[in-house]
Amino acid sequence: MKIIRKAVIPVAGLGTRFLPATKAIPKEMLTIVDRPTIQYIVEEAVASGIEQIILVTSAGKSAIENHFDYDFQLDTILKERNKVLLREELRHISNLIDVTSVRQKEPLGLGHAILMARNVVGDEPFFVLLGDDLVLSKIACCKQMINLYEQVGSSIVAVRRVPEQETHQYGIVEGEESEFERAHRITRMIEKPAPGTSNSDMAIIGRYLLMPEIFDLLEKTTPGHGGEIQLTDALQAMSKRQGMFAYEFEGSRYDAGDKLGYLKAVVDFALMHQQLGPAFREYLESVCKQLPEE
Ligand code: G1P
Repeated sequence: MKIIRKAVIPVAGLGTRFLPATKAIPKEMLTIVDRPTIQYIVEEAVASGIEQIILVTSAGKSAIENHFDYDFQLDTILKERNKVLLREELRHISNLIDVTSVRQKEPLGLGHAILMARNVVGDEPFFVLLGDDLVLSKIACCKQMINLYEQVGSSIVAVRRVPEQETHQYGIVEGEESEFERAHRITRMIEKPAPGTSNSDMAIIGRYLLMPEIFDLLEKTTPGHGGEIQLTDALQAMSKRQGMFAYEFEGSRYDAGDKLGYLKAVVDFALMHQQLGPAFREYLESVCKQLPEE
């Protein structure tokens, strides 16, 4: 069984849900407590043993590449000013992992974005992590998926249960119970189903462990929901050819591309923060006591 070494992170999206904040700054660079959201995603990949990140970018996203790069000028200034801890922190970010980028020249959809990484991924299984989906968990979500992969040896998508009225916002997976813990054998996948067209409540969240055969299928995928080339449609075709699993990961998921989801992530990540957590909890408790009745 091939080990998973590479992870693709599509970051070419415009971030329209977060305008005007994202007019000049990529949404992936919005800060949660003390680091940009993209760093949490990359750290999850690193914690799962991934060795190379492939960013799928578009114009105006160079801030993300710069964030993971080494900045000689800044390092020299910090050295002169004797800022030892800050220097270490910045070095830690640039040493985290090897980051490569490829371009998506036209916004043709998530499936098309993943296809752009084909040459860099090559013929090996890989992860896709979506930057809007942050997961807070004891064991990194991708690591949990690798643990299942070591038993099943096939593609896996991470899912969580959502209320019926929200299923149309996600890729939905239909499946059967399996002998593996928290895992379902996939029977059908539908991107953003219209109400009443699927009775499943298992929604895909942005973590996919994929076999390289997905690239051939993406080549053949025609525009689907919203006129875009959908990853879910290629996955549906793949589930017909080879076994695939949906995995109910352990942990909390935040939609950091949505204003309310982002605020929830800021609060929960701040509460979990080693240095800031206790003082922030005290502050929140004092705020709650003073909250006026609605
Ligand atoms: C994408 C996928 C969808 C998945 C979702 C998870 O949709 O197409 O299948 O459920 O991410 O966040 P998007 O949110 O980009 O519209």
